[in-house]
Amino acid sequence: MTPTLTDPFGRHIEYIRLSVTDRCDLRCFYCMPEGFTDFETPEHWLTFDEIERVIAAFGRLGVNRVRVTGGEPLVRKELPQLTSRLSALPGVEDLSLSTNAVQLAKYSEVLRRGGVQRLNVSLDTLKPERFKAITKGKLEKVIEGLMAAKAAGFNPIKINMVVMKGVNDDEVEKMVDFCLKHGFTLRFIETMPMGDTGRNASDQYIDLQIIKKRLMQRYDLVPGVMPGGGPARYMKVAGTDLNIGFITPMSQHFCETCNRVRLSVDGTLYMCLGQDHNFELRPLLRNGISDSELEAAIIKAMALKPERHEFSDKPGQVVRFMSMTGG
Ligand code: GTP
Ligand code: 5AD
Ligand code: SF4
Repeated sequence: MTPTLTDPFGRHIEYIRLSVTDRCDLRCFYCMPEGFTDFETPEHWLTFDEIERVIAAFGRLGVNRVRVTGGEPLVRKELPQLTSRLSALPGVEDLSLSTNAVQLAKYSEVLRRGGVQRLNVSLDTLKPERFKAITKGKLEKVIEGLMAAKAAGFNPIKINMVVMKGVNDDEVEKMVDFCLKHGFTLRFIETMPMGDTGRNASDQYIDLQIIKKRLMQRYDLVPGVMPGGGPARYMKVAGTDLNIGFITPMSQHFCETCNRVRLSVDGTLYMCLGQDHNFELRPLLRNGISDSELEAAIIKAMALKPERHEFSDKPGQVVRFMSMTGG
C-alpha cells in the first residue's frame, strides 16, 4: 500500500510546490518590490541532485503531484534537465509548471518532451501598456510564449489572472473571450497580503463572488471540473469547452482541504503559504543524511503544518514575499 503523509488536522499531503529560484524576470507590483535585491545566495540553492533526492523521498511517501514554481522557474539555468529527471521519478504522476511565459517560446518544446504535463501561466491583462505598468515587462513575449506552449501540445493551459479593482477588473470579460478563442482555461485569483507588496495591493482587493455574479449576467455558468490538485473551484461556460476557476483564499478560504507543502530554493519546507511554520532540509542534506532519515524528517515536519492562513485576522503579520515560494 502506498504510504500517505498526514498532518495533525487529518489532511493528506499529496502535492509539493517546488520553488527552483526566488528570482524573476518580471516585477509584478503585488509580488516583489521594484529594486528588490535580497535574493538567496547561490551556495544556498539546492542543487538538482539535492532537489531530486528530496522529491524522490516525497514520492516514496505518496506525494504524486509536483508543481515547479519560482520566482520564475525558467530563470533557473537548465531547468528542463531538472524537470526531465523529476518526471522519471517513481511516484511522480503529475508534473506541472507555473510560469510567467516570458521564456516559453524558447522552452515549450523541450519541457513538453521532458515530461512536464501541465502549464499554468500568469496573465493579468491583454493591454500592452497596462502589462508594462503591472509587471515592467513586455506583453508580446508572454503571448508568443503562450502560443508556443499551445503549439507544443500542452493541455490544459491555465491562465492565472489576479483580479484587482481599478487595475484590471474591467478586463474580465475580454479575458474570457481570449481563453475561449485559444482553448485556455481561465482562473481568477483574489489578492493575498503576502509581504509589503501584497499588503499594499490589498487596497485593490475584490471579492470574486462579485466577479462571478457579473459573469453570470453574460454567460450561462454551470458546475465544471478540471484536472489539477489546486484550490480553484470551476464553473463551465455552457455550450463551450471553457472552464473558469475561482481561487478565493480571502472570501472563501480552502484550508480545510489543503493538500500541499512548499519547498523553497534554499531547501526550507514551508508548511503553509500564509504562515512561517517551516522545517530546514538543507543542513540535513549537506550533513550526509540517509534516505530513510530524510523520509523520517519529512514525516516529522508534517506535524508543524498549521490549520490555516490568517490573512484576514492578522493582515499585518510578516510573511515572506510571494516570490519566495511561488504562490
Ligand atoms: P493546479 O490546480 O494543480 O493546476 O495548480 P494550482 O492552482 O494549485 O497552482 P498555481 O501555481 O497556478 O496557483 C494559482 C494560485 O493559487 C496562486 O495565486 C497561488 O498562490 C494560489 N494557491 C495555490 N495553492 C495555494 C494554497 O495552498 N493556499 C493559498 N492560500 N493559495 C494557494
Ligand atoms: N496574491 C495573489 N496571487 C498572487 N500571485 C503572486 N502574488 C500574489 C498575491 N499577492 C500569483 C501570480 C501567479 C501565482 C503563482 O501567484 O500571479 O499567477
Ligand atoms: Fe493550505 Fe495554508 Fe494555503 Fe490554507 S493558506 S490552503 S493551509 S497552504
